[in-house]
Amino acid sequence: MKAWVLPQFGSIQSLKLVDYPDPIAGPGEVVLEMTLAGLNPADRYLAEGQYPARPTLPHILGRDGIGTVVQVGPGVHHWKVEDQAVLVRSEVGVNRPGTFAEKVAVPAESLVRPPEGWTIEQSAGATLVYLTAWQALTQWGKLDPSVVLVTGASGGVGVATLQLGHASGHTLIGMSRGSSKVKKIKDLGADLVVDPHDTQWRRRVREFLGNRKVDLVVDNIGGPVFGELIDTLGMWGKVSVVGRLAGPVPQFNTASLFFRRIRIGGVAVGTYTADESREVWQHVVQTLNRTGAKPVVDEIYPFDRLPEAFERLSQGPFGKVLLRVR
Ligand SMILES: NC(=O)c1ccc[n+]([C@@H]2O[C@H](COP(=O)([O-])OP(=O)(O)OC[C@H]3O[C@@H](n4cnc5c(N)ncnc54)[C@H](OP(=O)(O)O)[C@@H]3O)[C@@H](O)[C@H]2O)c1
Repeated sequence: MKAWVLPQFGSIQSLKLVDYPDPIAGPGEVVLEMTLAGLNPADRYLAEGQYPARPTLPHILGRDGIGTVVQVGPGVHHWKVEDQAVLVRSEVGVNRPGTFAEKVAVPAESLVRPPEGWTIEQSAGATLVYLTAWQALTQWGKLDPSVVLVTGASGGVGVATLQLGHASGHTLIGMSRGSSKVKKIKDLGADLVVDPHDTQWRRRVREFLGNRKVDLVVDNIGGPVFGELIDTLGMWGKVSVVGRLAGPVPQFNTASLFFRRIRIGGVAVGTYTADESREVWQHVVQTLNRTGAKPVVDEIYPFDRLPEAFERLSQGPFGKVLLRVR
């Protein structure tokens, strides 16, 4: 088969398209012939050696995707050849070969059926970001209708958080650089969109909320704006820390946490077990069904143009960037 391999840690641009041995389904596994694979910033972090995982090299990246079952390993009873299957978060693309290949062996427990009424494109890159958004919204316990501020609002996790938040009745503030994506972010359910580079963004949030405050920040970017995000929180306010696309937080005064009992908590989608992932995925689909929201696809690149797809991802997409494998 053809596969994109990472020959050494260093840069996502060192990926090479090569001939690679076909995978074989071991016990409890199936082999999928990939149709579409989804890109995630974590693929780049892993390639750059900034991720805890150190898979054997050469490594095939790619954690998300949809494909057709072509081989069923011993002990697998719920999947058969020709079934369409979507991966949920597992070690695929992390510590074992991933989806940027014509075929991939996957633990059957990490597969779900494409949701009814979704296209294969909508199904292909959704699971990782919606499971992440779900954890970010729910890790503090049941969230009654609240004010939720989402940074990196146009990205995979941002779009997922807005759609789930909208379906759950939250008041939503999206943060996005520039003005080009404002309308689309509002169409997803955001009530207000602010720009992290606008020095007056906190004033705009105050004016919009009146005497209410932000209850939860879902932060995908970190960086210099982090301290300002804390300022917008009310009593018992919380931050779910998902990502750090804007880099490290340069300065942080822990005193800003004292008086409002602010809590900051990391999100790690990889801590969901396979059983939890499948269960949470059902909740995600049911929640989205309330409003009819579907995953948003930014752009689909042909298989031989994966490096360009990663370029697109680094520019700030709107929704998911996908690779058409077949
Ligand atoms: N903790 C976990 O379990 C987990 C799981 C999934 C993802 N993540 C992490 O969460 C982050 C978001 O993932 P994603 O899939 O949503 O990424 P994405 O699809 O690349 O989108 C992120 C969005 O953030 C904004 N952004 C990008 N670079 C930025 C910068 N330098 N400064 C400010 N804003 C920037 C862009 O929005 P605008 O152009 O609209 O500003 C972009 O659309 C990544 O760091 C990813 O690794 C963590």
